[in-house]
Amino acid sequence: MSQHEKFNFKTLDDVREKSEQLHLDLKFQEDLSPLMQPRKVGSKVAPNSMAVLPMEGCDSTEGGSPTELVERRYTRFASGGSGLLWWEACAVVPEGRANEHAMMLTASNRSQFEALLKRTNAAAANANGSNHRPLNILQLTHSGRYSRPEGHLGRPLVAFHDPILDHGNEIVVTDAYLDSLTERYVQTAILAKEVGFDGVDIKSCHRYLLSELLSAFTREGKYGGSFENRTRFLRQTIRAVREAVGPDFIIASRFNVFDAHPYPYGFGCDKEDMWKFDPAEPEALVKMMVENGVNLLSNSGGNPYYIYPQVTRPFDKSSYGIPTPEEHPLESCARLYQFTRMVQKAAGDVPVVGNGYSWLRQFAPYVGAANIASGGCSFMGLGRSSFAYPDGPRDLITKGYMEPGKCCISCSMCTQLMRDHGETGCVVHDSKLYLPKYKKYNAEAVIREHRV
Ligand SMILES: Cc1cc2nc3c(=O)[nH]c(=O)nc-3n(C[C@H](O)[C@H](O)[C@H](O)COP(=O)(O)O)c2cc1C
Repeated sequence: MSQHEKFNFKTLDDVREKSEQLHLDLKFQEDLSPLMQPRKVGSKVAPNSMAVLPMEGCDSTEGGSPTELVERRYTRFASGGSGLLWWEACAVVPEGRANEHAMMLTASNRSQFEALLKRTNAAAANANGSNHRPLNILQLTHSGRYSRPEGHLGRPLVAFHDPILDHGNEIVVTDAYLDSLTERYVQTAILAKEVGFDGVDIKSCHRYLLSELLSAFTREGKYGGSFENRTRFLRQTIRAVREAVGPDFIIASRFNVFDAHPYPYGFGCDKEDMWKFDPAEPEALVKMMVENGVNLLSNSGGNPYYIYPQVTRPFDKSSYGIPTPEEHPLESCARLYQFTRMVQKAAGDVPVVGNGYSWLRQFAPYVGAANIASGGCSFMGLGRSSFAYPDGPRDLITKGYMEPGKCCISCSMCTQLMRDHGETGCVVHDSKLYLPKYKKYNAEAVIREHRV
């Protein structure tokens, strides 16, 4: 591990040089054509190999319905030219919402989602040509340990007690609760299909409930202990959703390959050294998901709520209370690409959306294209970059490059906004809207949390 540094590259050669200095196996290529390739996902086709990663805006109504802010965000994403829009965390039960403005798709607001999808698809065609129809995947979630369905206080529903993460108010969900939860995924997936989504993601990353279940080594009963038991909920839910939605609807999973958390509480980590990746179970998990009918994957890692968020999103500047990582951000990026490569290899023909590209700013496409060309992933996924520079993919298609001045600077202000319980977006490049929010919510959080 090397010293943390802020992004300071002027040319692609500078990035190459740093990669060599750090002995990283990063790949680069200037031919960006792999990003422009249409990509088959299940029985559908994405018009190119760029994806918007799921990014919670915390800006739905209290009932989970889309607001003007939600519409603005997805219209910008859709117009931006990506071939796949991975919609943000959408809770399948009210108690599993990460905040009181988390998205929820229900029988009572389905018409609003249906109308919104029509408008975002129209925006995509309007900006990128009438044949451009991105795939829309909705991320279904239960926030588990990070549930905060109302007000400022958490209402954690956990898979097991974790001495490192517990605060004392955690409730361990029962087997009966999990048994019935599968049906809620099924019902939301059916609604998602009916309103026009192309698929759903059974989210199992970032230590939310399903992600935590993967590491429920210490849990008693049928959802804990053995690999078979820890993957039971995910397996039964994938099967039940497939049964309900038929063969042509995409079932995806965004899952944690590596928790960066010690045994017996972390998934994908060596038993002696939590920073060492152990691919055995993640590989078996990918194969299990593919065998059970998953046709799109995206890997992630880490716990964005804990002290190592660089495992999920490499950054220049950390949010409040987060120590500066003891590694170079390029090492954090390389770790994510290594995970994606492993997942893509295990997944065979099933496409995998890669992540961890935003930190590389205008140089991300050269790494994304090389990763696709060398079989390391099928899509380059952009998270924070999509907040900052939603038109980046369109610029790549029409101009062949991303403008450095428009790129995400990985300042963590979007994360800070979310942590301060505000609606989130890019404070730097969408500042007219989000800078006042940043100031307001930050000032309130400083008082509420007695920050010094
Ligand atoms: C403000 C914010 C909201 C996010 N919301 C989600 C989410 O709803 N679902 C999810 O799987 N990941 C979420 N992420 C993680 C991103 O999808 C992505 O994995 C991460 O930012 C790394 O990609 P990047 O380097 O391109 O930003 C969020 C990240 C941020 C900063």
